[in-house]
Amino acid sequence: MAATRGEFSSRFGFLMAASGSAVGLGNIWGFPTNVASNGGAAFLFTYLLLVFALAYPALMAELIIGRHARSNAVTALKSISTNAASKKLAVGVGFAGMITVALILSFYTIISGWMLAFFFDPLARLLGMDEFAQWLTRDTSTRNIIFVGIFMLLTVMVISAGVKDGIEKWATRLMPALIVILVLLIAYVFTLPGAMEGLRAYLVPDFSRVANAGLLINALGQAFFSLSLGVGTMLVYGSYISKQENLPTIGGLVALLDVGIAVLAGMLIMPAMYVAQTNGVEIYDDSGGLIAGPGLILSVLPSLFNSMGSMGILAAIAFFILMTIASLTSSISMLEVPVSYVIENHKVGRQRATIMIGAGVTLICTLIVFNFDSLFDRIVTITTEYSQPLLGLFFCIFVAWIWKRDGVLGEIKQGYPDAESSLFWKIWPVYIKFICPLAILMVYVELLT
Ligand code: TRP
Repeated sequence: MAATRGEFSSRFGFLMAASGSAVGLGNIWGFPTNVASNGGAAFLFTYLLLVFALAYPALMAELIIGRHARSNAVTALKSISTNAASKKLAVGVGFAGMITVALILSFYTIISGWMLAFFFDPLARLLGMDEFAQWLTRDTSTRNIIFVGIFMLLTVMVISAGVKDGIEKWATRLMPALIVILVLLIAYVFTLPGAMEGLRAYLVPDFSRVANAGLLINALGQAFFSLSLGVGTMLVYGSYISKQENLPTIGGLVALLDVGIAVLAGMLIMPAMYVAQTNGVEIYDDSGGLIAGPGLILSVLPSLFNSMGSMGILAAIAFFILMTIASLTSSISMLEVPVSYVIENHKVGRQRATIMIGAGVTLICTLIVFNFDSLFDRIVTITTEYSQPLLGLFFCIFVAWIWKRDGVLGEIKQGYPDAESSLFWKIWPVYIKFICPLAILMVYVELLT
């Protein structure tokens, strides 16, 4: 089977694919929104701490298991299990991960569909198709279903082309484009009146908003979501890394890229909000906080673009291309999780597996679109606040408590012969064994009380 499995052809290819998975709506939408509603730099600081203290170790757990087993999540967890009970647990965690990631993909696809629709809106206006443009930005089930379909088709097309010719090829094209567009947009927004005030709100901590437990929960949830943890995404991408690679280093680079782009995105969104305010757009909600969530992306920013004349049309196109790219490089990493399982464990061809699972997820999307008010928020909360950290905890347990220590070290040593005497090996095992599980549990207790 090893011969037929895909592998990333270079370190750069893996970095683009994994950071493509990590960088998504979570960075450009979720992170700045969280910053805005949690006291600016205070959240930023907590977030950075949690990413490197908790999320990076958990990311390493997934990458190491994946590359060791060279298989999908279920088989990988089973292969490091030592007895019948842990094998059962492996299957349970593997399947729970696949269900979670399928549900995350379904709400993610709906939001990505909005991004796509808002990308076509300025194009339609440019072509004088004003009625079509209005339809594109009106929140109707028909529009939502159509754009779910288009976005899912894109995701399926990339994944059915495989690891090298699909995931790697598109990630290495799209991620550099994403960074260029982001930087250009920031440079442009900085020239507009009001931007500096936004930058200040972003970077100067407001400690009166820090002292609540909600901040910690939000920051941990954000960190796990942003690094795509707990559902086997990084495990599966790890399974496509060459044995010659130094895992702690490339895992660190992925975390750095993810954080770096989130911080950059904040430098776009926060100044843009204050520019919008300068232009007369309302940026505070009824309770006096900055407008966050869909209101920010689908109302404040479009109003800003509309107030900017012809430059606004260009800015809108660039911004929603940015969002679409960020979404696509993430959605493909989610779809790959169940697809790799079905291909390897049920001997189904890649194309068929991808189409089947893509169709299944589209069905769930449809269900959510038609029952939006009762399902959407609930699914987001259950998957990202409860399921993901809990599964992340189990990945830590597998690596630290179930898998034999020699096995773990042996895997890291491939591509990093001096691992045993490294700082990483002095700190990480303790972290993954005690500190990560405890911290996740503590956040859980907070969440439940
Ligand atoms: N990390 C991505 C983001 O920030 C989303 C993502 C991709 C994800 N794969 C995942 C989230 C797996 C949770 C689990 O938008």
